[in-house]
Amino acid sequence: MSLFSKKDDAIDLLKEDHKEVDQMFDAFEDCKDAGDTTGKARISGKICDALTIHAMVEEEIFYPAVEVGVPEASEMLAEAKVEHEGLKRLIADIEQANPSSQEYDADVKVLGEQVKHHVKEEERDLFPKVKKSDLDLEALGDRIAARKRELGASPTAFKRKRDTRPIIDIGAPGPNG
Ligand SMILES: [Fe+2]
Ligand SMILES: [Fe+2]
Repeated sequence: MSLFSKKDDAIDLLKEDHKEVDQMFDAFEDCKDAGDTTGKARISGKICDALTIHAMVEEEIFYPAVEVGVPEASEMLAEAKVEHEGLKRLIADIEQANPSSQEYDADVKVLGEQVKHHVKEEERDLFPKVKKSDLDLEALGDRIAARKRELGASPTAFKRKRDTRPIIDIGAPGPNG
């Protein structure tokens, strides 16, 4: 295949996201070290948006395709979905926390650790299995890229979707305080 016909397949795209978000966590640490609260808030907003879009394309497109095309990965997928739920809870916490609080820094740090763990499992265990399968990864890549464009062009579309999901937050006061 020539250099010009090489297209990013689904796994290339997902790995690019992983790398990008890893760099954002480094940038967050830099802002933290510099005492730059505004920078922290800006970068963690980008982290939360990027992770939310990434999780959505995996859950809507990639995981269902793997479920059908790579039956031996079903246990890994089940675990990955549980990990996504944990990430979403942390993201929701961060979006409501005060960026100048210690709790905020702790949440972002734990989010970074959990993302690292999740990404490692995807890249080390899941992706190699998918690569060996008969799945059309270029076609899947096209769908993922299109969905990402759609979500990125309209950030409120996924925010709305996020806001409508059930929130299980035992610590939050109810409507009557
Ligand atoms: Fe994932
Ligand atoms: Fe991923």
